[in-house]
Amino acid sequence: MKEKLELIKHNTLDAISKCASIDELEQIRIDIVGRKGELTSILRSLKDLSPQERGEVGKLSNVIKETINDAIDNRKNDVERALLTNRLSEEWIDVTLDKESEFTSNNGYLHPLSQIQHEIEDIFTSMGFAVLDGPEVETEYYNFEALNIPKHHPARDMQDTFWTEDNNLLRTHTSAIQVRGMEKNEPPFRVIGPGRVFRYEATDASHENTFYQVEGMMVDKDISVSNLIFFMKTLLKEIFKKEVKVRLRPGYFPFVEPGFELDINCLICGGNGCSVCKQTGWVELLPCGLVHPNVLKSGGIDPDKWSGFAFGLGLNRLVMMGYGINDIRHFQSGDIRFVQQF
Ligand code: DAH
Repeated sequence: MKEKLELIKHNTLDAISKCASIDELEQIRIDIVGRKGELTSILRSLKDLSPQERGEVGKLSNVIKETINDAIDNRKNDVERALLTNRLSEEWIDVTLDKESEFTSNNGYLHPLSQIQHEIEDIFTSMGFAVLDGPEVETEYYNFEALNIPKHHPARDMQDTFWTEDNNLLRTHTSAIQVRGMEKNEPPFRVIGPGRVFRYEATDASHENTFYQVEGMMVDKDISVSNLIFFMKTLLKEIFKKEVKVRLRPGYFPFVEPGFELDINCLICGGNGCSVCKQTGWVELLPCGLVHPNVLKSGGIDPDKWSGFAFGLGLNRLVMMGYGINDIRHFQSGDIRFVQQF
């Protein structure tokens, strides 16, 4: 009997020392010293032994039981400590790492076009405009016909683009969003539509096949050119952070009547004449006008009751003017050194 007990002790201590899991250690405890454990059943069968043997075996079993319990507790402590040490080394963060180190130089940057777009969205939403989106692949109807540019209209030549095989096209301007805006909204309403537009263009320092615009449209009762000028001046004041002088020149766009080119006083020379404004003191900034009745009709709006203004702001030009960027092709160059400057 004594040998049997010693053997149990030996085997159990051996198993404990090799065990690296808390759950398994508990299982050993249950199997050996638990209520139905091996050692416990031996203690239970003591009644069959002679009184002398009972005394000795009983004492020995109790000592072994205690030894095993202690060994399990100690091993559990070791295993827990090892697990913690492991976790600490895996989940280690160095709170002393320098914020300005190379770690932060891997963070993303908002492209300057996105930055200006967000800024313009903020300015217009603060004046009650909703921001609309539209698809980059458009139908001929939304991009041309609904904007009073029928099939063989010469204005289409100015906006050659990429056509898909099923006769859709990459939108040439965000004006397509105007039509979707009219379909979605009952007048009166104010919307802007920022987005990427495409032209089939021979590229050079001022021409790109892909660029960004923000379209704007306000439809209400008795909208006039003075409403248009007010909103454009407010926009420019917010963007350039100072009062900007504007002037309107006639400009032709089939979807507005009258149509204008809005110029701003040259911000570089203050209007005295320099190379940027080609000595004129004025820089062409955005085309705009009063919405043509045919366009309102396409949008399901009665032109006898309602009128509106619209404008199309080129974002690339704006950023180029703001930062003195001399080549539009930088925007899409994918050169990280370009975007990191903003
Ligand atoms: N869609 C025109 C373009 O890309 C720009 C434009 C002109 C938009 C006059 C307008 C507008 O809303 O009224 O060339």
